[in-house]
Amino acid sequence: MRLVRLEEELREETGAWGAPGTTLGFVPTMGALHRGHISLVQRARVECDRVVVSVFVNPTQFGPGEDLQRYPRNLERDCGLLESEGADLVFAPEPGTIYPEGFSTFVEVAGLTSGLCGASRPGHFRGVTTVCCVLFRMIEPDRSYFGEKDFQQLVVVRRMVSDLRLGTEIVACPTVREPDGLAMSSRNSYLSPEERRQAPLIHRGLSRAAEAAREGCTDLDEVKGCFMETVSEGGLLSVSYLEAVDPSTLESRSLSEGRPLRLLTAVYAGKTRLIDNVELVPPASLRRSRC
Ligand code: PAF
Repeated sequence: MRLVRLEEELREETGAWGAPGTTLGFVPTMGALHRGHISLVQRARVECDRVVVSVFVNPTQFGPGEDLQRYPRNLERDCGLLESEGADLVFAPEPGTIYPEGFSTFVEVAGLTSGLCGASRPGHFRGVTTVCCVLFRMIEPDRSYFGEKDFQQLVVVRRMVSDLRLGTEIVACPTVREPDGLAMSSRNSYLSPEERRQAPLIHRGLSRAAEAAREGCTDLDEVKGCFMETVSEGGLLSVSYLEAVDPSTLESRSLSEGRPLRLLTAVYAGKTRLIDNVELVPPASLRRSRC
């Protein structure tokens, strides 16, 4: 496995893999790798001939007062993990490589980015889509792997790739969880022991909401109530948003339409913002009656 920092080195390396039919898988990350990232690399390893992983803490997706400075960084450890997972190449650019002097073009996906996390993190998705667009152009992957934990990001990036014909297939991979259900996130390291103890209530609440929907409850207030009640058991958790949306358009929808929805949430555990989501699947009887 090689670690490269410059665009020229990256292109030299990937250019040498150019035999016709060679498939290139790409896993974009901000480092501080955990089992969630590793599952993306493993999936790419199975599905592609070559695997490139980027490690880049992207400054443009952090708002003022967010955690850009203290975001965990440990490239040596990340490279060790990636080497043992069989990644072919790690691309760890300096900010000036992605955003050279004079850089002034940003990619913004309208609509999909205005609600949910976009409402409280203005500019966040603009930063994500811009860096992903630049990385896709540099790496030219056949497939790019994203986790479902960042569900809105997944939908937004997929839209951008389709609209701009960026020519990479976006592969969605299931959220990887701690044994107690907490979704893996590099930001979990910020949690105090008490916050960490309460954080699994988020997944537990989402699971209860999903169960209510599965059992035929079509009243979204009631379904959401299952979540709110569970999360309120932890005195340190406060809900930033909780919304049931269409999984492709991210528009609010009713369960009585009989189609699966996605229930997305962001919850503060103390000062740390955690996100998670679950699929709400109405029972088959309701689905059939609406066909
Ligand atoms: O999900 C992340 O880690 C980041 O948003 C991404 C996709 C690597 C872009 O910086």
